[in-house]
Amino acid sequence: MKSYNGDLTCWNCPAANLKGNVDFRACGQSKQAIWKNIDKAGTVMIECIRRPELGHFEPTIKFEHCPEWELDSDHDLFKLRSMRVMILGIDGYLGWALALKLANLGYSVSGVDNYNTRKSVEEVGATTVVPIAAMAERLQAAKEVLGVDIDYREIDVLDLDAMRRYLTEIKPEAIVHYAEYPRAPYSMIDAEHAIKVQKNNVLGTLGLLWLIKEIVPESSLLKLGTMGEYGSPLTGRPLFEGIFPADAVLRWDNREWSLGGELTPRDPVSFYHVSKVQDTFNVYEACKYWWLRSYDIMQGFIYGVHSEELSLDPRLRTRLDIDECHGTVINRFVSETVIGIPMTIYGEGEQIRGALALDEAMECMHRLICCPPEAGQYDVVNQVSGLHKIKDLAEIVAKVGKEKGYDPVISRIENPRVEADYHPLEVISTKLPERGFTPRAPHVSVEEEVGHMFDLLGQPHIKERINALKHLIMPKTRWDGTKQQSEVIEQYEPGMREKSGHTGMLVSEIGADEASNGDAVDAERAPAAGATSTS
Ligand SMILES: NC(=O)c1ccc[n+]([C@@H]2O[C@H](COP(=O)([O-])OP(=O)(O)OC[C@H]3O[C@@H](n4cnc5c(N)ncnc54)[C@H](O)[C@@H]3O)[C@@H](O)[C@H]2O)c1
Repeated sequence: MKSYNGDLTCWNCPAANLKGNVDFRACGQSKQAIWKNIDKAGTVMIECIRRPELGHFEPTIKFEHCPEWELDSDHDLFKLRSMRVMILGIDGYLGWALALKLANLGYSVSGVDNYNTRKSVEEVGATTVVPIAAMAERLQAAKEVLGVDIDYREIDVLDLDAMRRYLTEIKPEAIVHYAEYPRAPYSMIDAEHAIKVQKNNVLGTLGLLWLIKEIVPESSLLKLGTMGEYGSPLTGRPLFEGIFPADAVLRWDNREWSLGGELTPRDPVSFYHVSKVQDTFNVYEACKYWWLRSYDIMQGFIYGVHSEELSLDPRLRTRLDIDECHGTVINRFVSETVIGIPMTIYGEGEQIRGALALDEAMECMHRLICCPPEAGQYDVVNQVSGLHKIKDLAEIVAKVGKEKGYDPVISRIENPRVEADYHPLEVISTKLPERGFTPRAPHVSVEEEVGHMFDLLGQPHIKERINALKHLIMPKTRWDGTKQQSEVIEQYEPGMREKSGHTGMLVSEIGADEASNGDAVDAERAPAAGATSTS
């Protein structure tokens, strides 16, 4: 049977102790220099932390031949048996959904959180519109409903001593790092918030890298970045997966240089996004200096409330925020429609953004956990399943909303952000499809997840919560530093706008015929959608 990771070897396995006979990281040298030293000794030898009886051996065993890696035929992937995965930010929108998914799949899941998001949402006078249980109750419900034990500690990632103790105790084989302030507007409120966000995000990640080096250097780090790190270049230059491909060249003044292997330009769009770019450089450097391994995941905005596990019991639900500082675009549109107020598009609505549904994001993370980078490898993954224009997304929500008995209206409001209203967007995203991820967009439309959202958010007790927060939806935080609620520019009925502007292009297979025809690709992958600020 075909698997997507059976041919990976000990080089990718977090159970391979590369200090077997050479302390790679102590030398602080480049990979080439290390190989030179190894050549003198003959071969590279490792020890397997899980199978010490093997002694020292060459790191050439494939996952498909190793008894520690078992085939999960549902996912066409080999999984490391009871792999220890630590989720930082486990109480959050994505962290909790991932914890349940992985625990349900048989992973040994642990996690930390310091409730920064619960506190920051409360601070702006809001709350999650989908009620969530306290962590103790969540863990109990996971045990009762799924029969899983998730190990949890309340720890601030910046608390190095507490993190050191917990990492030493658990010795995670993969670390998913979600534990950051996740939204742009919160970082733009004022100087205190900008500093708070950058301190938490940048210093949290920096400290974590030192701890990984010290305690679990073989563990793979899945670090969450965002598509917003790239911005949206007006030239239409493709957004490669973080690093230029080998054949990219720079031409200037009749001369030419290779760009292959260099980090691509970043053009962040808020102080939050700047924190993610700073993380990118810190993670990149740590992989270079210490042979750590990491996927830096440039994730599109996530929408939805549904996954197999989340829907099993109300106590297992994950949070959903809609206030101006924490809400994201589709989640907000559905909430607005449920309570009968217009969907709010910022500016023209011609902005194009990458997105994926919550359960798609969880599947991507699972696939990346099963395919760890090699020791020393810093890799970037563009995690999106479709590109959508914001005003088209409003149309999708309107269509589904009408089918569910609502009366949707769309309004364009002043854009509080500094961002291009009209821009091309070409996103390369081949690494996840290579690992077996099939984006939902071409096959099952965004409508399906939006339908799930209407079913949940339309329940009377949730509708009541949305109503109570409606005064917090309109943006007041402007990128120019002033505080002024956005004015409505116009209101219109869904279905009254012609297609206009640029069309996004998502390339999931380099060299495929369809990749040369942007419009055709987009029409198929991103059926009608629209946009505003997304995260
Ligand atoms: N949701 C999206 O649309 C989206 C898109 C792109 C990237 N991301 C990234 O994914 C990650 C998770 O996003 P989310 O939507 O789940 O956000 P979230 O706020 O719901 O989750 C983040 C969790 O991390 C915790 N946390 C923050 N700082 C911490 C610290 N110092 N110590 C311990 N815990 C801490 C928070 O309390 C929260 O529970 C973030 O890094 C975000 O930037 C999210």
